[in-house]
Amino acid sequence: MGLPAYLTKSFSTLKPATLLRHLRFMSNVPENTVYGGPKPQNPHQRVTLTHLKQKHKKGDPITVVTAYDYPSAVHLDTAGIDVCLVGDSAAMVVHGHDTTLPISLDEMLVHCRAVARGAKRPLLVGDLPFGSYESSSNQAVDTAVRILKEGGMDAIKLEGGSASRITAAKAIVEAGIAVMGHVGLTPQAISVLGGFRPQGKNISSAVKVVETALALQEAGCFSVVLECVPAPVAAAATSALKIPTIGIGAGPFCSGQVLVYHDLLGMMQHPHHAKVTPKFCKQYAHVGDVINKALVEYKEEVANGSFPGPAHSPYKISETEINGFMSALQKLGLDKAAASTAAAAEKIKMSVSSNGPAND
Ligand code: KIV
Repeated sequence: MGLPAYLTKSFSTLKPATLLRHLRFMSNVPENTVYGGPKPQNPHQRVTLTHLKQKHKKGDPITVVTAYDYPSAVHLDTAGIDVCLVGDSAAMVVHGHDTTLPISLDEMLVHCRAVARGAKRPLLVGDLPFGSYESSSNQAVDTAVRILKEGGMDAIKLEGGSASRITAAKAIVEAGIAVMGHVGLTPQAISVLGGFRPQGKNISSAVKVVETALALQEAGCFSVVLECVPAPVAAAATSALKIPTIGIGAGPFCSGQVLVYHDLLGMMQHPHHAKVTPKFCKQYAHVGDVINKALVEYKEEVANGSFPGPAHSPYKISETEINGFMSALQKLGLDKAAASTAAAAEKIKMSVSSNGPAND
């Protein structure tokens, strides 16, 4: 079968709106179907390192939030967040582990791909998970390449500032991949840190935070996360660095801030989870309460038969079709099914005549 005429015509001769319509026609993206998804975001406004540099130069704070899946990514994009970090915090807030250590590279890649599908505007940064980059610079470069190539990220983040980590960061940058550093509390190192402990609380530790951040800058990092350090120490690092610092539990004197999606939304309202929400995190909502309320309401309505009512039973069948359908059922020997059809049709008719159309 030959192609329709408009497909043989060069796409370059089509007007943008026409081209878009044709591309949609050819794609498998559901549009105007019962499963309609969010509108595509504008890919032309993608945040780049250049945008971040400009913001930093102007003194405009950079906003960073973690995301792990398509819906959270769409939310970040819609809110205009600059950087979307697919953090290994997914191990804790999505997979329910007590630390970030167990998450694998393959699991991270699944999160990265889902986020890349949802967030078209923010700069996408993917965390290198524990065990995927410490052995050698080659291993670190290979993992970083996979995060970009298979995960669809724009950049990677790695934790720590030991000599081998700085060498790895440099090697990744030399491979053409933008790197975000991470100093202070580096959760992948809780084994040596002795738990989730703030850093930089004495002279030597505070100096180490600043020196490590400087070494990461020297290695070519485009920014550095400062986690759980006193605000004056973060201020010193921010002033000493030419690249932006992104604070989390590091006070207000950073070039930008990052929070974990679930923490800032107050998603974890269960007492067990409430315990693990860090004390530096402001909860901008209590989404967990809203979710719990909705689920309980749904459960009750299904249990008492009030859901789905007419408003949520949208697919109609005419009386003629019903009668034909019942005869067909009877011919198949399914008399009970035919009687149930008649009873359901009668019930719907009565509820429409007493409530008017589509009222749950
Ligand atoms: O994994 C993560 O979410 C992070 C942020 C807390 C910076 O590293």
